Amino acid sequence: MTSKAPTTALTMQAKTFGLDQVNVSFLEGKHTSPLVISPRWDDSVDFVATWLHLNRSWVEEQMLAYGAVYIRGFLISNPPEFERAVNALQPKLCDAYRGTSPRTLKEGCKYAFSAADAPVNFPIAQHLEMSFLKAPPRNLYFGCMKASSKPGGETSLCDFRKVYRDLSPQLRDKLATKKIKYSRRHHKIGERFTYDVGAMLGWPKLFGTSDPKEVERITQEEDGPEVQWVGKNQDCFLQEWIDEPFQQHPITGEQVWFNHSQVFHWTTFSMELWYSFKRIRDFNLIVHFIMVTLFTFIKYGLLGYKMALTTTFGDGTPITFSEMSEIRRAIHKNMVYSRWQKGDILCIDNFSTSHGRQPTYDRSRQVIVAWSHPCNKKPAAVVPREEAEVDMNVVLKSGNVRVPDLVESPDSTPSTTLTNKKAQELKELFLNDSFKNQMALAGRETNQKIGNSGAVLSCVTLSSVDFVTEATAPEISQTMR
Ligand SMILES: [Fe+2]
Repeated sequence: MTSKAPTTALTMQAKTFGLDQVNVSFLEGKHTSPLVISPRWDDSVDFVATWLHLNRSWVEEQMLAYGAVYIRGFLISNPPEFERAVNALQPKLCDAYRGTSPRTLKEGCKYAFSAADAPVNFPIAQHLEMSFLKAPPRNLYFGCMKASSKPGGETSLCDFRKVYRDLSPQLRDKLATKKIKYSRRHHKIGERFTYDVGAMLGWPKLFGTSDPKEVERITQEEDGPEVQWVGKNQDCFLQEWIDEPFQQHPITGEQVWFNHSQVFHWTTFSMELWYSFKRIRDFNLIVHFIMVTLFTFIKYGLLGYKMALTTTFGDGTPITFSEMSEIRRAIHKNMVYSRWQKGDILCIDNFSTSHGRQPTYDRSRQVIVAWSHPCNKKPAAVVPREEAEVDMNVVLKSGNVRVPDLVESPDSTPSTTLTNKKAQELKELFLNDSFKNQMALAGRETNQKIGNSGAVLSCVTLSSVDFVTEATAPEISQTMR
C-alpha cells in the first residue's frame, strides 16, 4: 500500500473534530452577535470542512441564537474552497436567484456567486436576502476572497428583530394595517449608468432566458405575482404585489422587520452614503453623497422616475421621508461592523439578521455569497421547532461509511451556565456511554475501506479518541465537495 503524506497540521493536531478543537469568541468580547469560530490548532480547509460538517447542528444553533456566525482564521483562499466549506455546513445550497443585485457564478463553483457586481463604492442598504419573495433563502453565507485595504467595505449586520422592537407603535401599526406594495420592473437590458442597483439587472439575466413565455412559466412555477409586459416595446418586465411588513421567525416565532421598503426608497442611496461618511469620515463619501443627492432628487423627486423596485404603503400612498428616517434610525442604531479578513465565512440566519454593504474605494475588494434552500414566510404561524431540526445522521457517500452523531463537549457552549466541574462530570458520563456505543459500531466497520486509498477506518468518532487515521481524514472531507 502506498502511504499518503498527511498534511502537517493534521499530523500535528487535528485528529478529533469536537467543539474543543476551535476557539469561540465574540467580536466585542460580549455575548452579542456575531459569534466568531476560529482555529485552535488546525487552520486547514480539510479540517474546517470536516469540522463544519460534523458540528452542523451546533453551528446552526448559534446562528439561531446570535443571528450570525463568523468562521474566521482558516486557510480558505478561493471560491471553490469557500463552496466546499459552506456545502459541508449546508448540504442544501441553492443556485436560483431572484434578488436584485447583478451577480456572477464564480469559476469552478456551482453555488458561489459574486455578492454584487455593482461598483464597490455603491452602498447596499441593510436587507434580508430576497425578503420580498414568498420563500426567501433560510440562511446566507458570505466569503471574503480579498478584503478592502481602504476604509469601508464591511458587510454590515443588523438584527431585524431589534428593528421591529425599536420602531414606534404608531409606525408599526400603520405598516401592519396598510402593508407594503412592491412594484418590480426590469428592462431587457440592464442599465449601466445608474445608482439603482436593481435597474442594472435585466430580466433575461434574472431568469436565465430571453423568452417572455418561459419567464411567465418560471414565475408561475414559483408561485410569484403575475407578470405584466409594459413599456414602448412591451418588453419591460413588471410585477406588482402587496406583502406584510413583518414576519414571524420560522423557529423562534419572534417578530421581525421583514421587507425591502427602505432598501429601494429613492432617498436611501444618498442617506446610506451620509451614514457611512459620519462613521468613517472618508472625504470621497461626502463628495459622492452630494453628487448622488442632487442626481436622485432631480431624477426621482422632481421628474418622477421609478426605481427598479418601488415600495409604497399598500394603498399606494408614499412612505414619507420622515417615516423612512425613523426606519433608518432604528436600523443604524442596531448595526454591527467587522472588517473582513481574507478567508472569512460569515453565516447568517436570513430570517432574523440583515446584511448590507458599506461603500469603499478599494475596487479590488472581493466578497462572494452562497445561499441555502428557500423557506416559506408564514406571518401567522410558527413552524414547530422539531420540523426545522437538523438531521445529523449524515451518511458520507464514500463506500458505506457512516459517520455517527456529533459528540459535543457540554462545557464548550458559549452560553452555558454549567460550572466547569459539573460540565466535566457530564462530559465524562456522556463520553463513557458514547464510547461503548462507538466501539461496538467501530467493531463492525473496522474492515471497511474508504475511497481508493485502501486505508482502514481505525476508529469511528469520539471527541476523546482519534476520529480516523491521519491518512483518511482528508479523504473523508473530499467526499463532501
Ligand atoms: Fe443581499
